[in-house]
Amino acid sequence: MRQDHLISATQLSREDIEAVLDRAAEIDGDMDAWQGRHAGSVLGLCFFEPSTRTRMSFDTAMKRLGGRTIDMGSVESSSVKKGETLADTMRVVEGYADALVLRHPLEGSAKMATEFVDVPLVNAGDGAGQHPTQTLLDLYTMRENAGLNDVTIGIMGDLKYGRTVHSLAAALTNFDVRQHFISPESLSLPRSVRYDLHEEGAQVREHTSLTEVLPDLDVLYVTRIQRERFPDENEYLKVAGEYQIDTDDLERAKESLTVMHPLPRVDEIAPEVDETSHAKYFEQAHNGVPVRMALLDMLLENATSEDDQ
Ligand code: CP
Repeated sequence: MRQDHLISATQLSREDIEAVLDRAAEIDGDMDAWQGRHAGSVLGLCFFEPSTRTRMSFDTAMKRLGGRTIDMGSVESSSVKKGETLADTMRVVEGYADALVLRHPLEGSAKMATEFVDVPLVNAGDGAGQHPTQTLLDLYTMRENAGLNDVTIGIMGDLKYGRTVHSLAAALTNFDVRQHFISPESLSLPRSVRYDLHEEGAQVREHTSLTEVLPDLDVLYVTRIQRERFPDENEYLKVAGEYQIDTDDLERAKESLTVMHPLPRVDEIAPEVDETSHAKYFEQAHNGVPVRMALLDMLLENATSEDDQ
């Protein structure tokens, strides 16, 4: 993969995705062998929104590659609180780091930030836009459990505001998969995402109920309703709790069904599902480390070879 920044899953070809997943699998097989690979490199973590998995797995990934991380900390404890702009923050942190990870509540913010930095920048979630590294670990988990060839995938929950959904749907167009989207009508796919899937010739169907499609699924990807993105709390309350799965539901599923969730969950998946062989969401979260190690390794490798030219 020869790209300076990773902003959207739409940038990624099948070849790019497979290169990252193959390297992640290699890393996963012997993580200690990669310690020291990027000794002396520094990764800047700039999170303008809360995060557990993305922030901590990038931090772990960089340290397992032998590098170090610097963290802007919370918005409350940084100079953002004093009114510093995103552009100025990124220009400053670029001077401290060899690569940057940015999470921000505004869609388009990561793309905008690339105008102000020369080091590789990774979008770790921009509002309801994209979350491409989540997609890479989602694909890694799918490939390990169900494969990415001739599979039927259900994506359920908040399809309107869920950035993991927008990224995943785009990336899946590179593979031989059938995509079923399940949501209340008010949270269906944004028109732009639906249009892009159509343009890519994706096999897509939309549903308001899981019942009709569950028995056909090889993977069920469940998402949280993104309460923080609703402009009106009443609109959230109308759909809260509407999409939940429990072990009774799963009796109608294939025995081999893989259930995934980018996490955090609220109440979309009953805790009793955790004990079934379907549940792969904690494994999915753990896969964030080898996958982000692979991505950082490739981005830093590219940046070094460009510096040498
Ligand atoms: N899946 C995900 O992005 O989780 P965090 O918000 O905890 O990073």
